[in-house]
Amino acid sequence: MITFTLNGRKVEAEKGTTILEIAREEGIDIPTLCHHEDLLPYGACRVCVVEITRGKRKRVVASCTYQAEEGLVVDTNSERALNVRKGVTELLMARHPNVKIIKELAAKLGIAEPNPRFSVENDYCILCGMCVRACREIVGAHAINFAERGVTRRVSSPFSEAAGDCIACGTCVYICPTKIITMQDVADGGAVYPGGRDSLGPRRIIHTWKVNAEMVPCRVCKRPFTTQAKIEFMQKRAQVPVPIEELTICPTCKG
Ligand code: FES
Repeated sequence: MITFTLNGRKVEAEKGTTILEIAREEGIDIPTLCHHEDLLPYGACRVCVVEITRGKRKRVVASCTYQAEEGLVVDTNSERALNVRKGVTELLMARHPNVKIIKELAAKLGIAEPNPRFSVENDYCILCGMCVRACREIVGAHAINFAERGVTRRVSSPFSEAAGDCIACGTCVYICPTKIITMQDVADGGAVYPGGRDSLGPRRIIHTWKVNAEMVPCRVCKRPFTTQAKIEFMQKRAQVPVPIEELTICPTCKG
């Protein structure tokens, strides 16, 4: 265990715990954008910054990645930390003025309008990387990644083509904080041609990654609920063989 000072109070914590985790346990609100408790700490957005003092040295650190240390003094709301948070949020407001979580964060910090110093864009991906990290860390599929650098950095399927390793599980869709990744389950994902149409049956389409995946119906209720690619992926990754019956019953029918 270590003891340190958090907003003027002595606090005990397990060694290796981040300042953010301890602050949340203590009921202290620190805003975050790229942090998710099911993912590894990432430290990209910097809205979670706090000011720390160690001896005579003060500095601002990302609370989601910085582990508390014995004797550390932490101020989650110092003027310097708040200024950094505001600066970062103003930049985010300029680039993503219509993203709900950015508008909420800005309102919390008293920012009503995008700062006129910055040119305003209308991008919905805030580059938090949650979709990329969830696909890698939770699912293990590694189907999407960041592409390019600097101002043109974006999340993409390989070469912007259909994501061949995507199993259409939808994890990226659920975790995306701005809901810019779109997914649709359709009764028949066939293609229409001038001379007729191909019937492909129930499909899950993830438009963002150009994926059109075959869906599998539940053995009990017959409702399409998962994808063939996901079933095959789970069978391949399982340490012990999983009977196909186990994988083809929907959560509702499993109870
Ligand atoms: S939440 Fe800590 S850097 Fe993004």
